[in-house]
Amino acid sequence: MPYMKRRDFLKASAAAVVVTSTCLCGLNGCATFTKKGNTMAIKPEALGRKGNKLLIDLSREPLLARAGGAVKIINEYIPQGIIVAHTEDNTYHIASLLCPHRGVEVDYDHKNKRFECASLGSSTFALGGENVKGPAKKPLQRYEASVQGNMLAITI
Ligand code: FES
Repeated sequence: MPYMKRRDFLKASAAAVVVTSTCLCGLNGCATFTKKGNTMAIKPEALGRKGNKLLIDLSREPLLARAGGAVKIINEYIPQGIIVAHTEDNTYHIASLLCPHRGVEVDYDHKNKRFECASLGSSTFALGGENVKGPAKKPLQRYEASVQGNMLAITI
């Protein structure tokens, strides 16, 4: 084995650490690479469509039963995924699922009542979709919705 001075060894080791740890959050599961957030998909039996309305039967989706819950919807009814957040009693906010920065999914942060990108960039958005911080330059698209009984109708 060739001789290496201690200083050279430390420099080489530091360079190796920089190269192998490009992601600070745990490598394989990093949302920056997977583009997936932590929000669960809606139960298929809770979802329907009538004309330009996406219908969610709230009695069939426990994740939306109380304030703080959220689901994502990705299916053929809509051109791009959306996130549905139950923000206060009987109040729901719906926005596009994908961060306008690089298309990573957003999650609902109930503590701060915001949407937050799951990537390391962590762009955050107000419930109205406005960009609050982070590298995203555009807002999240918002969708209008109304509740009648157990049915949440989202205009798509
Ligand atoms: S994808 Fe970069 S902040 Fe969301």
